[in-house]
Amino acid sequence: SGVPSQLRKSLSKLGISHELLDFFFKWIEGTENYPKIPEAKGQIRAIRSEAFFIPLYELYLIYGGIFRLTFGPKSFLIVSDPAIAKRILRENSKAYSKGILAEILDFVMGKGLIPADGEIWRVRRRAIVPALHQKYVAAMINLFGKATDRLCEKLDAAASDGEDVEMESLFSHLTLDIIGKAVFNYDFDSLTNDTGIVEAVYTVLREAEDRSVAPIPFWEIPIWKDISPKLKKVNAALKLINDVLDDLIAVCKKMVDEEELQFHDEYVNEQDPSILHFLLASGDDVSSKQLRDDLMTMLIAGHETSAAVLTWTFYLLSKEPGVMAKLQDEVDSVLGDRLPVIEDMKKLKYTTRVINESMRLYPQPPVLIRRSLEDDVLGEYSIKRGEDIFISVWNLHRSPHLWDDADRFNPERWPLDGPNPNETNQNFCYLPFGGGPRKCIGDMFASFENVVAVAMLVRRFNFQMALGAPPVKMTTGATIHTTEGLKMTVTRRMRPPIVPTLDNTTLGAEEPIRIPEGE
Ligand code: HEM
Repeated sequence: SGVPSQLRKSLSKLGISHELLDFFFKWIEGTENYPKIPEAKGQIRAIRSEAFFIPLYELYLIYGGIFRLTFGPKSFLIVSDPAIAKRILRENSKAYSKGILAEILDFVMGKGLIPADGEIWRVRRRAIVPALHQKYVAAMINLFGKATDRLCEKLDAAASDGEDVEMESLFSHLTLDIIGKAVFNYDFDSLTNDTGIVEAVYTVLREAEDRSVAPIPFWEIPIWKDISPKLKKVNAALKLINDVLDDLIAVCKKMVDEEELQFHDEYVNEQDPSILHFLLASGDDVSSKQLRDDLMTMLIAGHETSAAVLTWTFYLLSKEPGVMAKLQDEVDSVLGDRLPVIEDMKKLKYTTRVINESMRLYPQPPVLIRRSLEDDVLGEYSIKRGEDIFISVWNLHRSPHLWDDADRFNPERWPLDGPNPNETNQNFCYLPFGGGPRKCIGDMFASFENVVAVAMLVRRFNFQMALGAPPVKMTTGATIHTTEGLKMTVTRRMRPPIVPTLDNTTLGAEEPIRIPEGE
């Protein structure tokens, strides 16, 4: 920058206006000072294969932390560099929108919090975030426990019958049951029932996933739109869900009108602690499409993500019996036979590390999508407005440049006495919940949900890959799925009797517990 700044000073002395100089130097910089972004050519096939983030990883190793992927008239920037991710997500986040994601999700989420941008997003984020306050999350722990208990009963029956279980779909039902109650006080009861509404949710989800991996927006083709049986089914499913939502909103509104509770910061209605109840009590407009869009967004955001985290956690645990044993030890000593409560969340440290590490290896979603709204500078490169960008969290989380033994499932890499890892303390090398102003609003909720589910399941059962189970391979929609399910054999644990400990600090302490003499 030495020569240009000298030149700039001289020109300025000659009386040339700052505006003109700014324009001139911006132009010079835009054309000359910045190198060209590396371009991955002839790799068009790659992105259409099954789990598209795998070829993006191969290309990352060749082309580095930012490269361009072109196919046909379309081009994408693939970002795998922590500093650039930080620039896009946090430092200059206002210069980026959700881009393609908003287009893909429009049919189900409308202007809900995930796809929304600009003023709508700002207003809704401010309205919704307060609903997930401490007291709400604490109330949710009980819900997580009860829902997991129902799953335990199911597994218990399978263990008795010697039947293998497909864990991925069970986790999907578990997290659907939880999020339905948590967001709008609806009991899907999908672990025991298979009703139309549950099927409708899955129809819509599958459609969203199909759209997110589709090479062309088939749903916009005029005639196709009207005659495709698949789209008809999707629209019928959407209508069913919307009707249920309308009923739930009406019922909830009636409760709010009849209750005596004053609205305040940590407002929770004990009978119905749902997010919907909070929003209506805070004065949200019942008739708005916005409210429905946000509820639908949270239903989907909180459902498949947690299900995927649990699925991959159990897959990883099945391959590391040493980790499983340590995990079970912790759970036995912290929980004993009780249902978990909020205070346990701090104590289940190793359980939390197991989940942290699972989210590193299998981030949900594996890529974040953005579009530049203005020109920007990313690392040493300049970009124009209108660029579609994929931030590959998968690449960040598995980079051999950022992690020792990056592909290894090793919860010990996160010290138990260290901070809970997040994007800030890991400087954007680790972003399980994104970062910056668009960071997940359900991070605490989801972490506790997963801790409770993992703790309660491993406390009662051992899990092994079923004999003859299909190999576990990945495929993507919005989250990482298995191609053929996670088939496991579940057996009841034979546990030593639990010795109640009065004080946790005596656990593992050097001093032996003294038995009073003469008694
Ligand atoms: C956003 C992950 C659970 C609601 C996000 C983002 C990620 C994420 C990575 C950022 C997306 C981006 O920047 O483009 C996860 C994971 C979860 C989880 C891994 C479970 C393990 C939940 C739950 C809820 C939720 C339970 C609802 C209560 C949202 C919302 C946003 C979001 C509304 C959009 C926030 C905004 O744009 O302002 N999530 N999430 N998530 N998540 Fe989650």
